[in-house]
Amino acid sequence: MNISKLKKNQILINGTVLDPFNETEKKADVHIENGKIKQIGKISAPKNSEVVECDNLMITHGFFDAHVHFREPGGEDKEDLNSGSLAALAGGFTGVCAMPNTDPPIDTPELTRYIINRSEECPINIFPIGAVTKSQKGKEITEMGAMINEGAIAFSDDGVPIGDAKVMQNALDYSSMFDIPIINHAEDECLKCDGVMHMGKVSTNLGLPSSPGITESSMVHRDLEIAVHAGARLHVPHVSSFRSVEHIKALKKKSEKISAEVTAHHLFFTDEDLVSYNTNLKVAPPIRSKKDKKALIEAVKSGTIDCIATDHAPHTIEEKEGTFDIAPFGMIGLESCFGAVNKILVHDNKMDLISLIKRLTVNPRKVMKMDQDLFKLGSNAEIAIFDPDLEWSFSSENIFSKSHNSPFINQRLKGRVKATIVKGHIARLD
Ligand code: DOR
Repeated sequence: MNISKLKKNQILINGTVLDPFNETEKKADVHIENGKIKQIGKISAPKNSEVVECDNLMITHGFFDAHVHFREPGGEDKEDLNSGSLAALAGGFTGVCAMPNTDPPIDTPELTRYIINRSEECPINIFPIGAVTKSQKGKEITEMGAMINEGAIAFSDDGVPIGDAKVMQNALDYSSMFDIPIINHAEDECLKCDGVMHMGKVSTNLGLPSSPGITESSMVHRDLEIAVHAGARLHVPHVSSFRSVEHIKALKKKSEKISAEVTAHHLFFTDEDLVSYNTNLKVAPPIRSKKDKKALIEAVKSGTIDCIATDHAPHTIEEKEGTFDIAPFGMIGLESCFGAVNKILVHDNKMDLISLIKRLTVNPRKVMKMDQDLFKLGSNAEIAIFDPDLEWSFSSENIFSKSHNSPFINQRLKGRVKATIVKGHIARLD
């Protein structure tokens, strides 16, 4: 990946501009002047401008991932905000929300400010999600108001479920004052017990402890009921089971403040892939059955699930080399996301490309109440340039994260990001 400063006048020429906000697609050039969108249309390049040839490429909004783990502070051997930014750039992402399960967790205004200050030094836009409860212990609510003032964009104890319904109710009541989303990692710990994969035929054959889909869906249902009752914003992360989809679909009819996301890996793999005992497929919530995967694909297509996220969760090789029962949960995902979801949704399941792009751009920005009209003249240029049809094998060389725990290595993907523009820079992939 080559990262360079944008020239005063930068022209993206001969591409197809896909605008997911206005839902238009047309052959056009894009003129970026001083890092801002100057004009979109037929452009005669001013003197001294630099041209980026975009023949057969699509030019769209920079992707936005509402769910990453960048491990800073405390886990910088796995990832830090800079290395995570490089992984994001390689995947076409110009903005991400960083989960607070760091060491220490982001549970105070001061720590929130730390992430905001550090993100200013990074090549992409990073927005901190604050912890819902102090030390993510699930008991005492954090000072949400003060954390919002320092820049927290949402609240989550992700990695750990909020088990106590009363705490969840208090959190949703409190957050509704600010109309800001709560994101609960829904897995009932009693039902999960020591489960490391989805419960079904495959787990029986492999002899691994497992947990069923209701581990998630029972808590998703509880959260939805409380959120509707409180009139609060609830964003359901990494949906993995068909029953959760049913609950989300039903409760969305009662509140406009419900949104949901699915990860690329829950759309791409099934529990049958775990027969390899590849610990990089060990994630929370687990990768589930064919039936669940099918329901997730239908839910993204219909809009019941609003966004695609990566849940990029770096872990060291040493940790992942442990046996399946002791390896930590999580996989990285930023670099492989577009090729994976474009393959599954557009090529294999006939979703239209613009709807997919909306779920990677406009929809997650809407959930986080950010500007969604990125091609408005005068906006800071945040752009992803990609080839929608290129078939390629994902490999270690495509990884820019400090960690390499990806089950996408050696998988054939379809569609590839060629360049990402954000914060006055262009990152080119070869
Ligand atoms: O698999 C996961 N890993 N799921 C989570 O929710 C947390 C994440 C992590 O932080 O490693």
